[in-house]
Amino acid sequence: MPAEWIWRNGEFVKWEDATVHVSAHALHYGSSVFEGIRAYETPKGPAVFRLEPHMKRIIEGARIMRIEHPYTQQDLSAAVLETIRCNKHQSCYIRPIIFRGEGQLGVDGRGRTKTEVMILTMEWGRYLGEEAIELGVDVQISTWRRMAPDTHPALVKAGGNYVNSQMVVMEAKDNGFIEGIALDVNGYVSEGSGENIFVIKDGRIVTPGNWSSILMGITRDSVVTLARDLGYQVHFESISREMLYMADEIFFTGTAAEVSPVRSIDRIQIGEGRRGPITKQIQEEFFAITSGQKEDKYGWLTYVNS
Ligand SMILES: Cc1ncc(COP(=O)(O)O)c(C=O)c1O
Repeated sequence: MPAEWIWRNGEFVKWEDATVHVSAHALHYGSSVFEGIRAYETPKGPAVFRLEPHMKRIIEGARIMRIEHPYTQQDLSAAVLETIRCNKHQSCYIRPIIFRGEGQLGVDGRGRTKTEVMILTMEWGRYLGEEAIELGVDVQISTWRRMAPDTHPALVKAGGNYVNSQMVVMEAKDNGFIEGIALDVNGYVSEGSGENIFVIKDGRIVTPGNWSSILMGITRDSVVTLARDLGYQVHFESISREMLYMADEIFFTGTAAEVSPVRSIDRIQIGEGRRGPITKQIQEEFFAITSGQKEDKYGWLTYVNS
């Protein structure tokens, strides 16, 4: 469900008026950085989950992509809250985007394009399906690799990187799976098209390190904190493909996917073929905090109306 108002370069415009010109650089060359953030409904009204880390990532991404814009992290965080208030959301998905807009064509867009900064919001349910949270998802290993570290800036949530993600998820869906997992350039596990991955074996939790061309997920970071506080060891390691098939439990993390169990990979059952006990425990912590049911001792929630 799209919202009524979109924040565009400091002003609110109607959803249908937030259009761009066909010469927009980002359309041709993928020169955008964006974020995906969730605001959850809580007893104290809507609350944005980990607003500042998301806004830090977009600001840093714009710097790496050399996209000039006049906003500070604080400006954009305030604009996100204003957009949620303006659209009267109780919960929503938030998509800030900074991109090279209209101007002269040419691969180096600096000095010849107009930067656009927009924030759109929408009401959005479970990304991998309502049942995925409990039952888990069936996924495949993609024939598409994640880009090598010296090809694209994988740590940046850049529009152009999502050509790779699109190939991964389209192939998976065409083969009857919900999602694909890409291996990195060295053949180790990287991530899903829009999620990080955690693997549990004998009570030990492992997730690929940043050398495996992953996006350094904010949900991943939150889950590492929650798991360690629950008493588990979490390790950043290179993960070989066969370790996935031998795992007791596997789950994805991401703003859209939240914490979603994986029940099979390449039609090989993972563990008991349903959500495992450690995944359930981490999920319950995550949802208790995001829903405001449990004290937010990490300061992860920004209340929209306070
Ligand atoms: C490729 C990719 N990896 C991982 C993630 C998870 O990141 P986060 O938890 O910050 O949403 C996302 C989602 O944004 C993604 O698109």
